[in-house]
Amino acid sequence: MDEAVQRLRAGRLVAFPTETVYGLGANALDAEAVARIFAAKGRPSTNPLIVHVADTDSVLPLVRKWPDRASALAQHFWPGPLTLVLPKSTAVPDIVTAGGATVAVRIPQHPIALQLLRGCGLPIAAPSANRSEEVSPTTAQHVMDSLGPFLEDLLVLDGGPCRVGIESTVLDVSRNPPRVLRPGMITSDDLQEWLGDVPNAPKLSDRNGIARSPGQRARHYAPRMPMMIVPISEVTNTLRSGDGLLSYSSYQGDAAGVLVAMPDSASAYAARLYEALRRMDEAGVPRIVVEAPPQSAEWEAVWDRLRRAATPGEPANP
Ligand code: TXA
Ligand code: MG
Repeated sequence: MDEAVQRLRAGRLVAFPTETVYGLGANALDAEAVARIFAAKGRPSTNPLIVHVADTDSVLPLVRKWPDRASALAQHFWPGPLTLVLPKSTAVPDIVTAGGATVAVRIPQHPIALQLLRGCGLPIAAPSANRSEEVSPTTAQHVMDSLGPFLEDLLVLDGGPCRVGIESTVLDVSRNPPRVLRPGMITSDDLQEWLGDVPNAPKLSDRNGIARSPGQRARHYAPRMPMMIVPISEVTNTLRSGDGLLSYSSYQGDAAGVLVAMPDSASAYAARLYEALRRMDEAGVPRIVVEAPPQSAEWEAVWDRLRRAATPGEPANP
């Protein structure tokens, strides 16, 4: 931890655990340090970063406005897997926001992340600690595997596996009404309670309904193999020998080369999803077949990540 704090103060990078996924952090107020993040990830400069802080007081210097609804959400959901997009102040370098007028901020709910933030006394800009377009890392080893070859002096604080396992919900509160830019385990329904006027997130069947964050592309969080999502009734017909199967029901995958049994609750499924996709990659299966999970609101974020990982043109929306 001491070494990590020293590095951040010196404008260098540190990878650290959050409750969602591991982040690759730099001093958010130092444009040169932040540039090292983009270089290490191979990230397009058009994709803005999330700034992490230890407490709500530390948000205020970063934003031009702190509306009541942001304050209400922060009080209820922070620390936690919710990112708020707000009008940025001049303290935030343009590279952090990809030149945009808004900044994304959150207080993570992980003791190591909070210790790091308090220790260095700085806001930390941190995207997920993977190469651009890869599945986000949920263990320290994933970070080493993904970024190790690209960063000769990579330091990762190891906090074990991430509890939530997929990235935070991103909510744009700089506009009225606010809008979900990226679904996460805090659902639109959860947000709605604290924000009478947040419109419902797009229907699960509406693949283009989500307003994308700048730089965020449809195909993202992608494994290397072709991947398709099919209802349980079509799994047997779809499987070819050697394929990987991700199943949350009790499917007895005779024909599957690699069967990963997934949990049947949305939160436990999310926590294991990226690990499962990495296992498929490592096993070298020719294709990944995913049994379509339920269509209810709590599965919305899992569906979002599965659709982004699925190969365009393959069935993804039964
Ligand atoms: O859970 C998380 O959010 C993790 C952990 C490390 O906090 N971070 C993460 O960062 O997923 P990243 O960079 O992989 O994803 C950030 C998302 C991107 O979709 C980006 O476009 C969006 O947030 N974003 C960042 N700043 C934004 C802004 N000013 N306006 C709209 N979207 C923004
Ligand atoms: Mg990412």
